[in-house]
Amino acid sequence: MSPFSLTRTLPVDTTSAALRADVADGLTRTSKQLPPKWFYDARGSELFDRITELPEYYPTRAEREILIERAPDIAATTAARTLIELGSGSSEKTRYLLRALPQLHSYVPVDVSDSALRQAGEGLLAEHPTLHVHALVADFQEGLELPDTPGPRLLAFLGSTIGNLLPPERNRFLTAVADLLEPGDALLLGTDLVKDEATLVAAYDDAQGVTAEFNKNVLAVLNRELGADFDPADFDHVAVWDPAQEWIEMRLRARAALTVKFPSMDLAVHFSAGEELRTEVSAKFRQESVRTELAAAGLALRQWWTDREGRFALSLAVPA
Ligand code: SAH
Ligand code: TRP
Repeated sequence: MSPFSLTRTLPVDTTSAALRADVADGLTRTSKQLPPKWFYDARGSELFDRITELPEYYPTRAEREILIERAPDIAATTAARTLIELGSGSSEKTRYLLRALPQLHSYVPVDVSDSALRQAGEGLLAEHPTLHVHALVADFQEGLELPDTPGPRLLAFLGSTIGNLLPPERNRFLTAVADLLEPGDALLLGTDLVKDEATLVAAYDDAQGVTAEFNKNVLAVLNRELGADFDPADFDHVAVWDPAQEWIEMRLRARAALTVKFPSMDLAVHFSAGEELRTEVSAKFRQESVRTELAAAGLALRQWWTDREGRFALSLAVPA
């Protein structure tokens, strides 16, 4: 049997049914919005990888620094034989965990982007030829069915992707994670931390415009999947810090009044000049907010590690 398998619990046609439902709901509201998972087609995954290398985008470097320093602790504390990673993308930082876990039997990367999973799988197997890699194309918010692999299991959710969920979604998600974990299993959670506004805004509005291109890529996804007629040039990329919610909001702002047609849905969506579509939030955390949100889901915070500059945190939590 090949050490790499890719299982799809997201049938290709439900992708467009789910996208249609999100458009019908999110683009017909007074405040237009879309959920962020639609950014990540092959092009979106590639653009995200470029974001992680931008000088302004510090979270990836900060999280990598913590992983490099703490991987031995994580390995010793968890003795994991299966590593499950939600929203694994390129699995680039995961390498530091894999190297520190020689007893690992299986790696289960889960992502909506099958191009990212396939590419990551190739690289991983070159470095770990005996590791069982069970890649899952799935929505991590939709009730995960995990392969039967040996415990203890470590479930990693890196990159502060948890901050892209709204607070009620985070609670639902963490509760589902707590349900999946058995005694002896653990959650490794990456969270970006509250800091000065200028640093935060620059991380989501870089000088080269890669983040702007990434944000606008969602319009290309709508055009391709649903036959919509967005012209990305009609929109400006906007990143703003909301100090009350403590999150960055990513928006697309219509430069002039326009109407977009979705012929496959018999829908026309009007934008007035300056009207914004919210495409993503990226919440920033504090130790106490992480502890409280974990506890509300039945998880106990056991370790809290930050990078030297205190920009980003990795938490290790266990079923309470
Ligand atoms: N973990 C990587 C990538 C973070 S980007 C890192 O830290 O750099 C977020 C990743 O989550 C992307 O690869 C995206 O495709 C995936 N993703 C976003 N929403 C998802 C969902 N609902 N279900 C599964 N994967 C999702
Ligand atoms: N999880 C990442 C974050 O919140 C995702 C991300 C980074 C992102 N840059 C982005 C999402 C730009 C949308 C647009 O930092």
